[in-house]
Amino acid sequence: MKYFIVTYGCQMNVHESEKIAGILEKLGYTPADKREEADIIVFNTCAIREGAEERVFGNVGNLKKLKKIKKDLIIVLCGCMTQKETTAQKMLRTFPFVDIVIGTFNLPKLGDYIAAVKKGRQLEIWQEGEIDEILPYKRTSGDNAWVNIMQGCNNFCTYCIVPYVRGREKSREEQNILNEIKDILAEKKYKKITLLGQNVNSYGKDLKNPISFAKLLKDICALDGDFTLSFMTSHPKDLTDEVIDVIASEDKIEKYIHLPAQSGNNRILALMNRKYTREKYLSIIEKIRAKIPNCRITSDFIVGFPSETEEEFNDTLSLVKQVQFDSIFAFMYSPREGTVASKMENQIPQSVKNERVNKLLNEEKRIQKETGKR
Ligand code: 5AD
Ligand code: SF4
Repeated sequence: MKYFIVTYGCQMNVHESEKIAGILEKLGYTPADKREEADIIVFNTCAIREGAEERVFGNVGNLKKLKKIKKDLIIVLCGCMTQKETTAQKMLRTFPFVDIVIGTFNLPKLGDYIAAVKKGRQLEIWQEGEIDEILPYKRTSGDNAWVNIMQGCNNFCTYCIVPYVRGREKSREEQNILNEIKDILAEKKYKKITLLGQNVNSYGKDLKNPISFAKLLKDICALDGDFTLSFMTSHPKDLTDEVIDVIASEDKIEKYIHLPAQSGNNRILALMNRKYTREKYLSIIEKIRAKIPNCRITSDFIVGFPSETEEEFNDTLSLVKQVQFDSIFAFMYSPREGTVASKMENQIPQSVKNERVNKLLNEEKRIQKETGKR
């Protein structure tokens, strides 16, 4: 019995696919080299932008032929897209050959769903779930081991679907994280540990005995072993001086921060509900550069947010010029059903979004040539 997993989206999903692989291997499945050889195919989906969803729809559609040839093939859809009830229903209607559609919180029970599939098609979407600590991971990222430290997000940036499909922030107990990392280090296969969370800087605030992200970083660095530690993603509003100091002082921590700015304009930042200003963002960058002179800094930007004017977009261009990031990701704003921004007036035409994203990426290329950063 063989499995094949198709993963869309961010590192969180890549890591979650390692969990899915762990579950399937425990059930006796082994990896298939290609989907044609698989007895079970899992699509771990992403909902962050419309483009991601369209790709999933196209690729799941292509499985119809395979299922015709191989009647016993089990097809599973999971991840952020399927956590949305309306999308999950639409997927079941569009793809009658799919066997299991489950939400992000149902994953621990994947084995039960597979066992039950012989009785008929399965659709289940829980609205909340506990962080499960018992699953084995099948680590697949070379000498890097991903370690999830929290799930969900409380920020509700107005463009973002994540809080709706991943729930509220829930931190793992520090001891569980330390134990997992000790086990990883004991295997002696991994040189790098990367901590994952939607907003790692607010780690620990929700625990019964709250601890700070800075303390977690220090405690991990105190573990025996030769490894580098990094983390993503940081939210500018929560990146404390203490965290910057720990990055500066701990040799094991990689001198790298991914710090999504999203926009360089204060009106747009407020509309996005980012809870910082351009000036605050720049002051954090200054602090990082003063305390960690060799620190690489990267960022995410969204262009064409509802009502963004050309001048406001120019503020994003000027921020990129001013900071001289090591690299940036630039995204065209994509309305996500159920989010606040999708209902805002004055949505920007696609042609303008295209123009702005190209301008931003060209500016970034020009800066990198000039500064020799790439
Ligand atoms: N449209 C475009 N980009 C988005 N991102 C998140 N939501 C959207 C959206 N609706 C971007 C943000 C975030 C990155 C992971 O994806 O820049 O930092
Ligand atoms: Fe989305 Fe904002 Fe949370 Fe990041 S911090 S996951 S952009 S809501």
